[in-house]
Amino acid sequence: MTTSVATKPEASTAAPNSEAPNLMFSHMGFAVKDMAKMEDFYTRVLGFTVTDRGHAVGMDLIFLSRDPQDHHQLVLVSGKPDNIPPNPFNAQFGSVINQISFRVGSLDSLRKLQKVLERENVQNIFPANHGIAWSIYCHDPDGNNLELFVDTEWYFPQPFLIPLDLTQSNDAIYKQTKEMAVEQPGFEMSTDWRKRIGARMNRFVPGV
Ligand SMILES: [Fe+2]
Repeated sequence: MTTSVATKPEASTAAPNSEAPNLMFSHMGFAVKDMAKMEDFYTRVLGFTVTDRGHAVGMDLIFLSRDPQDHHQLVLVSGKPDNIPPNPFNAQFGSVINQISFRVGSLDSLRKLQKVLERENVQNIFPANHGIAWSIYCHDPDGNNLELFVDTEWYFPQPFLIPLDLTQSNDAIYKQTKEMAVEQPGFEMSTDWRKRIGARMNRFVPGV
């Protein structure tokens, strides 16, 4: 399934806003049904460290991080209601949290991770090629949609999604994706895109 260019209006061209608060994204928390299963999955399978845990304001909380810069990147919190309906448009993606996404270092690591997910009987494994990233979507034990992705070297306007065949060699995936990407309207190297979009962003400045 690809998405037509007509659905992709030009991204904002606004200049940075000097009045914007000085902030950056750090972490998110989400309500959990099975705390033990979720802790096991995020620590043993995805490699997070429990940095703290406890009980506050009526809820159990487990703080998780993979970066000492952030005390927590994810917070698992008890109290998810039963019977939350699936997303009526696409059940792969969450009805509230659309995706929780993790950067992976290489195609080899992504392929290795696919094997681990299969061995762990993880549900809804769906490899996808966005052109700007190679991804595997899957569900965590609570049914949240996760994305594990590797950045490519290329940018073209999103959304774009076609199936990804990870049984192909790295060279074949690279060649096929590059050939497809350069044909897309608005294609540029991701290094150029980052410079261009970065000039419009309100960048975080530590200590200010
Ligand atoms: Fe994503």
